Amino acid sequence: MFNAISSQASKLINLTKKTEHISKTRIITITSGKGGVGKSTFTANISYLLSKRGFKIAVIDADIGLANMQVLFDIKPKLTLFDYVEGRNTISEVISNTRFDNISLIAGKSGYRYANLKNSLVLTRIVDDLKSLNIYDFVLIDTGAGLNEYVQEFLSISNNVLAVTTTDPSALTDVYALMKMLSIKKEKLLLCFNHTKNYQIGDTITNSLVNLAKNNRLNKNFMVKYLGNVSTSANISTTSRLRKLFAHEFASDDITLELQKLIDSLLINIK
Ligand SMILES: Nc1ncnc2c1ncn2[C@@H]1O[C@H](COP(=O)(O)OP(=O)(O)OP(=O)(O)O)[C@@H](O)[C@H]1O
Ligand SMILES: [Mg+2]
Repeated sequence: MFNAISSQASKLINLTKKTEHISKTRIITITSGKGGVGKSTFTANISYLLSKRGFKIAVIDADIGLANMQVLFDIKPKLTLFDYVEGRNTISEVISNTRFDNISLIAGKSGYRYANLKNSLVLTRIVDDLKSLNIYDFVLIDTGAGLNEYVQEFLSISNNVLAVTTTDPSALTDVYALMKMLSIKKEKLLLCFNHTKNYQIGDTITNSLVNLAKNNRLNKNFMVKYLGNVSTSANISTTSRLRKLFAHEFASDDITLELQKLIDSLLINIK
C-alpha cells in the first residue's frame, strides 16, 4: 500500500519536474512595498512593449481587492482569478483576451476580501497551470502594495522579482525590507526607479542599498540589479484615466524609450 502511494507520489513529482523543465514560460512578479509607486503602470506598459517584441504575455492582476488591470486594458472580463481559485473554472476559462494580440489577462476582482482566500498556497497552482499550458513566454504578476502573505506567495513562486520604487525615503525603506526578506531564499532583485528623471540617480541609490545590505550582513550572494528609470509624465496619468496604454499611444515618446531600455536590461537579467 505504502509502496503504491509512494510510487504514485514520485510519478507526480517527476511530472511536475518535467513540466517545469519543458515550459518556456518565465514568471515575473512586480512588487514594491509602498503603494502608488507605479507597479500597475509598469506591468501594463512592460507587457505591451514585450508583446510588440513578439513575446506572448499573460498578465495576472494579483492586487486582491483593488483590481485595476482591466481598467488599464479597458476590458470587462466576465471571469476572474477568483473563479479559478474557488474552483468554479479552469485556468483556460479565466484567461481573457485584451485588444492587444499577444496579451492575455487573468483579471482580479475589486472588493474581493483576503478573508475569502482560505489558503495563499492556492495561488501557486495558477502559476503552475499557466506554465503547463506552455503558450506564454512571460507571465507578469502585478501585486498590490505591502508584503502580506499573498504577495509573499507570488514572490516565492517567481524566479524573477521586479521591484518598482521612487526615490522617496519611505519607498526605499520598503525596498530594503523586501531585500531583507528575499535575500533569505532568492539570488536577485531587479529594481526600477519610477518618477526618476536621471538614470544615474537610480544607479547611485541602488549602490547605497547594496552597501547597506553589506554592512548589515545580508546574504552576500544576494544581488540587486538596477534595470533603469522612468521619468514623470502627465501623459502617463492621462492615458490611464482614459483607459489607454501610454506606451501604445506614445510609442516614440522619450519615456517609452526609457521603458524600452529598461526592457533590454530586463531581458538580459531574467531567468
Ligand atoms: N511615471 C509616471 N508619471 C506620471 N504618472 C504616473 C507615473 N507612473 C505612475 N503614474 C500614475 O500614478 C498613479 C499610481 O500608479 P499605479 O497605479 O501604477 O501605482 P501602483 O504601485 O500600482 O499602486 P497600488 O499600490 O495602489 O497598486 C496612477 O494614476 C498612474 O497613472
Ligand atoms: Mg497597482
